[in-house]
Amino acid sequence: MAEPQAETKQNDKILVAEGLEVSYGATQVLWGVSFSVTRGKVTCMIGSNGAGKTTSLNTVAGMLRAKNGRLLLNGDDITSLSPRDRVRRHISLVPEGRQLWPGMSVEENLLMGCFLRQFRPKAHPGLERIYGLFPRLKERRHQMAGTLSGGEQQMCAIGRGLMSEPQLLMLDEPSLGLAPRLVDEIFEFITNIARQGVTILLVGQNVNYTLQISHYGYVMETGRITLEGSTEMLMNNEFVRRAYLGIAEETPSK
Ligand SMILES: Nc1ncnc2c1ncn2[C@@H]1O[C@H](COP(=O)(O)OP(=O)(O)OP(=O)(O)O)[C@@H](O)[C@H]1O
Ligand SMILES: [Mg+2]
Repeated sequence: MAEPQAETKQNDKILVAEGLEVSYGATQVLWGVSFSVTRGKVTCMIGSNGAGKTTSLNTVAGMLRAKNGRLLLNGDDITSLSPRDRVRRHISLVPEGRQLWPGMSVEENLLMGCFLRQFRPKAHPGLERIYGLFPRLKERRHQMAGTLSGGEQQMCAIGRGLMSEPQLLMLDEPSLGLAPRLVDEIFEFITNIARQGVTILLVGQNVNYTLQISHYGYVMETGRITLEGSTEMLMNNEFVRRAYLGIAEETPSK
C-alpha cells in the first residue's frame, strides 16, 4: 500500500516546471527556471521588469515553447501539448494587459472563455457563476468591453479566465495601470477566488499585495529564480524588502 503521507505530498503539486529554457529567436531569456504550484494555494512570482515572468506564464500556457526543461500537470508531461490542449486540461491564463475584445459585450467576452466545444454546455451555468462572483459584470453584461473602467475590464478578463473552470488560473499583472482603490478591489476579488479553492499562479507588480495574498513565492531576476520560500519568509527577507517593498533596513545609529 502506498504511504499516505508520500501520496499526499505528490498530489500536492498541480504544476511542476523543471529547468525551463526559453528563447526569443537567438536571445535566451529563461535559464533553467524551476517552480511548482501547490493545489488550492496561491503561488506568486515577483521580479523586476524584463525578468521573465510573463515568458514563464506564456510557456506554461503553451504560447511559447521551452527548448529545454519540462512541465508536469498533475504528474503528466504536458511540455509538448498545444495551447488548446492545455486549455482542455483546464489551464487558464489571464494575460498581461487583459486583451479583451473591446467591440464585444462583456457577456460575449466571457463566453469566449468557453470557446472549446467541450466547455460549451457549461457556458450558461458558467455565466451565472461569474455574475454571482462579480455582480458588476452582470449589470454591465450588454456593455461593450472597451467602455468598461480599467478595474471592470480586469474583472471581465478574470471572469473569462474562470469560465473554463480552471484547475490552474494564471494571472499576469492583474493590477497593472489601476488606480489604488481599484487595486484594493482586484486583490480582494483574487482572494475570494482563492478562498473558493481555485489554484492560482500570480505574477504581480504590486509586490506588497501580491505577497500578502500568496502562500509561497518565487523571486525572478534576469531569467533565473534567485529566491523562493513562504511569503512570510520573503516579506522578512532583507533583499526583498529593499528591492521590492521599498523598505530600507534600519541601521543602528552610532
Ligand atoms: N516577443 C518578444 N521578443 C523578443 N524578446 C522578448 C519578447 N517578449 C519578451 N522579450 C524579452 O524577454 C525578457 C523577459 O520578458 P518578460 O516579458 O517575460 O518579462 P517580465 O518579467 O514579464 O517583465 P514585466 O515585469 O516588465 O512584465 C525581456 O528581456 C524582454 O525584453
Ligand atoms: Mg510581464
